[in-house]
Amino acid sequence: MSSLKDKNIALGVCGSIAAYKIASLIRLLIKQGANVQVIMTRDAAEFITPLTLSTLSKNPVLIEYYDKKTGLWNNHVELGLRADLMIIAPASANTISKLANGLCDNLLTATYLSAKCPVYLAPAMDLDMWKHPATQHNVQKLLSYGNTVIPPGDGELASGLVGEGRLAEPEEIIDFLLSHLNPNLPLKGKKALVTAGPTYEAIDPVRFIGNHSSGKMGYALAERLQQLGAEVTLVSGPTALQTPKNTVRIDVQTAQQMLQACQQHFADADIIVMSAAVADYTPIDVAPQKIKKKAEDFSIQLKKTTDILAFLGSNKATHQTLVGFALETENELENAKGKLSRKNMDFIVLNSMQDKGAGFGIDTNKVSILSKSGEIRDFTLKSKAEVADDICQVIVQHQQLIEQHS
Ligand code: CTP
Repeated sequence: MSSLKDKNIALGVCGSIAAYKIASLIRLLIKQGANVQVIMTRDAAEFITPLTLSTLSKNPVLIEYYDKKTGLWNNHVELGLRADLMIIAPASANTISKLANGLCDNLLTATYLSAKCPVYLAPAMDLDMWKHPATQHNVQKLLSYGNTVIPPGDGELASGLVGEGRLAEPEEIIDFLLSHLNPNLPLKGKKALVTAGPTYEAIDPVRFIGNHSSGKMGYALAERLQQLGAEVTLVSGPTALQTPKNTVRIDVQTAQQMLQACQQHFADADIIVMSAAVADYTPIDVAPQKIKKKAEDFSIQLKKTTDILAFLGSNKATHQTLVGFALETENELENAKGKLSRKNMDFIVLNSMQDKGAGFGIDTNKVSILSKSGEIRDFTLKSKAEVADDICQVIVQHQQLIEQHS
């Protein structure tokens, strides 16, 4: 039986071009057996007619506190208390800002303040509005109130720009809700932080020190952790990959930016998987202009970057599972064991460059997983999705052990 069956859903619709997708979302919610009560802002009614949404939801659509035709007052307290679930989709930057700051100048925002049920927000806006620190700060505030954000998708936006900010597709919203509400998923309620891809360390405005990491392994891990019920934040260096469904992606370029993003999300995370190929060194000075070809010999002075994994390992809490990677070309086991204990990890995933089908850019991998307790598990050559599954099984077992002992 669907976990949405017989649920009373207060569906808040804000003014955004993405409001047209809500017609499909309502149909899918009804198909799951939910009762849907739509509450729109006035602007939302400019984008899609209340008649369309009331016909599909089989309920009158509410916009104003007071209905002039019927003479009835739309009681936001009752609406909020009756709801088993509140979904705000599309959630505009304006409404997100109001909710984060407790404003209630319309029926939707007042219902939010009165609701005691879980609240899910599916943002939709232009990529720069989504990325703006003010919006991100408001989103963090809503997360701190216990609300859940259904991550926006990546792609073409109504402005013509391409990037993150698209309302998640109705099917994705339903998948997200079903997996979030499913009590049987092993990582339900857990938060995961995953790093992926290379870092680029600038030499001058057009050149950088980088590496061949494609990010495929990290993205496969983020996807699998999400499927197992975790809320995933993916900190990604430059890659050409699509953001995995229903994960929050933070784009970074340099090791320093990756460190800052990890520091911001580390304390909240139960699971941390560091699969990024982080530069160990970065130029001491970045030339402000393109460096011109002059002398026969040329050298760049480098300084060490902070070892992000070692930093997180030294601050690790008892509820956390910390997983790192090692890509080795010689003395593989010995080097991996050294890193495992030096950086205080629970597990290290070892890739050997000597194994055919393992390493950067390809779709397969061959790994061994070494645990803190000395166990070594060798796996055969597999697709990166299957390797991600093997790693996630180890993580699930570790999280279960942590729960048994807490
Ligand atoms: N790592 C990190 N920050 C760095 C360097 C590495 O978080 N500045 C992480 C990687 O994400 C990986 C693990 O540390 O999970 C091991 O990375 P690797 O480059 O193999 O190890 P190093 O400690 O840098 O050792 P070396 O380069 O000497 O092999």
